[in-house]
This record gives sequence, structure tokens and C-alpha cells, in this order.
Amino acid sequence: MTANTIEINRRRYPLEAGKPVWLFGYGSLIFKADFPFLDRREASIEGWSRRFWQGSCDHRGTPEAPGRVVTLIEQAGACCRGMAYRVSPDVFAHLDFREKNGYLRFMTPLHFGDGSRAEGLVYIAASDNAAFLGAAPEREIAAQIARSCGPSGPNREYLLRLADAIRSLGDHDPHVFDIERFLLEYL
Ligand code: SIN
Repeated sequence: MTANTIEINRRRYPLEAGKPVWLFGYGSLIFKADFPFLDRREASIEGWSRRFWQGSCDHRGTPEAPGRVVTLIEQAGACCRGMAYRVSPDVFAHLDFREKNGYLRFMTPLHFGDGSRAEGLVYIAASDNAAFLGAAPEREIAAQIARSCGPSGPNREYLLRLADAIRSLGDHDPHVFDIERFLLEYL
């Protein structure tokens, strides 16, 4: 599948004009909300784990030297915590552009801290996208992140800001925190 998902996403889950939609963020969408939103609430989704398995050619790396960013991998019993935003459907033009390097929109149930639920959209880069890098030891992922940089800045900033954001949610993500620890050793 092509790495540029803008057209595919436009055709997925047609959005109703004027009807706000929940968006779940688990990566940069937690710490970089560069779009207008009507509401923001901590939330989680079940059956998914966050992994630094997606290559980034357009934000935190280049086509010649991709960085690594997070995607979600299906895992029975897992729970991924993040931030949900209530957004107007027009915001997806910006979001589809921002997440164009392999991410597709999926509809999934969101669980809020007060026990309530809602359906929401989440961007996931599946293993069949051209920029997918897949699993690697956390130490190697940290080394790749340490040397990568792209138009949105150093890859290390993405990792460090994400790790801080996860801590602010009161969560513990061993995969992300191990990579952070190795990165700090390299610096
Ligand atoms: C997300 O944050 O929800 C998607 C992945 C990213 O943009 O880092």
C-alpha cells in the first residue's frame, strides 16, 4: 500500500458535515494538538499496544534516513491510554495531511475515565504500509531515534515528549520508557 494515505482516508468513514467526532491520540497527537478541538479528555482503547514500529520519512526523518514513530499493534488484553479530542469534521483535512505517511483512520470504542464510552477515530499505520519498519530491539530503536531528524525536528524530541506525556497521564509504557532510557544513555 502507498505510504501517502490522504486519498484513502478521505474515502473512509465519510464524516457528516457539522457533526463533531471523537479522535483518539496515542502518539504525537497527545502532546502536539495543533488543531482546534471542542473538548479533550483522557481515554483508552482496548486490544492495542503502542510500538515505535512505524518509519517517519516526512516528520522525524527523511526518505533516505527514516526516523521511528509510534503506531498501534493488535494485542489481546492490552490497553493503550491516550488523549481523546472532540473535533469538527473539517479538522480531518489537516489531520489526514499530518498523518499521511502510512496512517489509516479506524473507528474504535473509546473508554473515558468516568466509565463512559464513545466511538471515535484513531490513526493506525498497519504493517502493509510502505513506511512500516516493524519490530527491533529497544536499544536499536533508541539508536535510530538518536541519529534521526526530519522537517518536524529531531526524532529524540518526539520520543522524549511522548514519554513525558505518558507519565503525565499516570501511565507506564515499558516499551516507550525502555527506549527513552537507552536514548538518554546515548546522549
Ligand atoms: C497518534 O498520535 O495518535 C498517531 C501517531 C502520531 O502521529 O504520532
